[in-house]
Amino acid sequence: MTTHTIDVISGDGIGQEVVPAATSCVDAACATTGTTIRWRHRDWGSERYRRHGAMMPSDGLDQLRDGDGILLGAVGAPDIPDDVTLWGLLIPIRRTFLQYVNLRPLRILPGVQSPLRNPGRLDMVIVRENCEGEYGEIGGRSYRGRPEEMAVQEAVFTRLGIERVARYAVELAEQRAGRLVSATKSNGIVHTMPFWDQVVEEVAGTAPSVALEKVLVDALAARMVLHPDSVDVIVASNLFGDILSDLAAALAGSIGVAPSANLNPPREFPSMFEPVHGSAPDIAGQGVANPVGQLWASALMLEHLGESQAAAVLMSAFEGALADGTRTRDLGGRASTQEFTQAVLDRIAGGATNPAGRAR
Ligand SMILES: NC(=O)c1ccc[n+]([C@@H]2O[C@H](COP(=O)([O-])OP(=O)(O)OC[C@H]3O[C@@H](n4cnc5c(N)ncnc54)[C@H](O)[C@@H]3O)[C@@H](O)[C@H]2O)c1
Repeated sequence: MTTHTIDVISGDGIGQEVVPAATSCVDAACATTGTTIRWRHRDWGSERYRRHGAMMPSDGLDQLRDGDGILLGAVGAPDIPDDVTLWGLLIPIRRTFLQYVNLRPLRILPGVQSPLRNPGRLDMVIVRENCEGEYGEIGGRSYRGRPEEMAVQEAVFTRLGIERVARYAVELAEQRAGRLVSATKSNGIVHTMPFWDQVVEEVAGTAPSVALEKVLVDALAARMVLHPDSVDVIVASNLFGDILSDLAAALAGSIGVAPSANLNPPREFPSMFEPVHGSAPDIAGQGVANPVGQLWASALMLEHLGESQAAAVLMSAFEGALADGTRTRDLGGRASTQEFTQAVLDRIAGGATNPAGRAR
């Protein structure tokens, strides 16, 4: 029997509700294939920050280092600045463990209504650069509180950083439809974006079966709404990928269903799996959060661990529950988090799974 060690950080707000839902469904899916997950629960997040002044222990990253992966809920609390919660937990994990690919698959799940009148075939994967770009640490603020007050923030793009994320996206495009869209803004951002375009083009040039298209990010946002079927794999910088993937999640029906994988492709370090959504303080504690984003992220985790069969069982169980009409409030349904989770567990226990369940 295979055992994988996974660190679980439920974090804040609805993370506390959707993560336990996901771990119970992962356990059930793994039981069907003879796999075991050893969960290492970490009570890190805003509550810890209030008590100890830090989101995680000073040796927190070392504690995660020997694990096989990390399952994260969300971080963020209304009484703590977002830069404290984000930079105190999420971003150090992404950067220390060189999780330079943020993979976000999006498609319209069975029984889920897109807000688009004619969504056609909306089935795409966004490959977002996750370690550099616009989310840099270089900059500062001066003259606070005076009319001259100013802020400077540098974007950092490196050849290595662009090459490695572009290579991942090109390989993914090769496995899918052979189409790759690169989000750019080289008409307005005149140093980093032409460099991004050049390096992405060089990498794509090594894969003759992949057709690369450079699209200005504003036009791409409009195109994703008007012709979502014209997009398959998107490669984007940290900021552009962040924004486009929330747009894509909304087009797919709800931000509550969108998953994300923070991958260290060479597998030198653990990768981290989380939903795209945040801690949703407006609904936290009400038991109405949609656990699908967390479940789908967990299926991506199982695939990464080489447990494709368990991933397919999990995917088809929650897709089946949705298709049956069990839906949370954000999808127009009435099911609570717990009721939806129970429907998924029932489907896994009943073996009523459709083996086509695919995580990406
Ligand atoms: N990766 C992360 O941990 C992450 C990501 C985004 C935002 N955040 C943080 O979360 C906090 C709240 O941010 P926000 O309000 O901009 O974004 P959010 O994703 O938390 O919520 C946006 C809206 O979507 C709804 N929503 C989100 N997830 C849902 C789910 N699973 N089921 C049903 N409805 C859902 C919320 O109720 C809210 O109306 C902030 O502190 C922010 O910094 C964290």
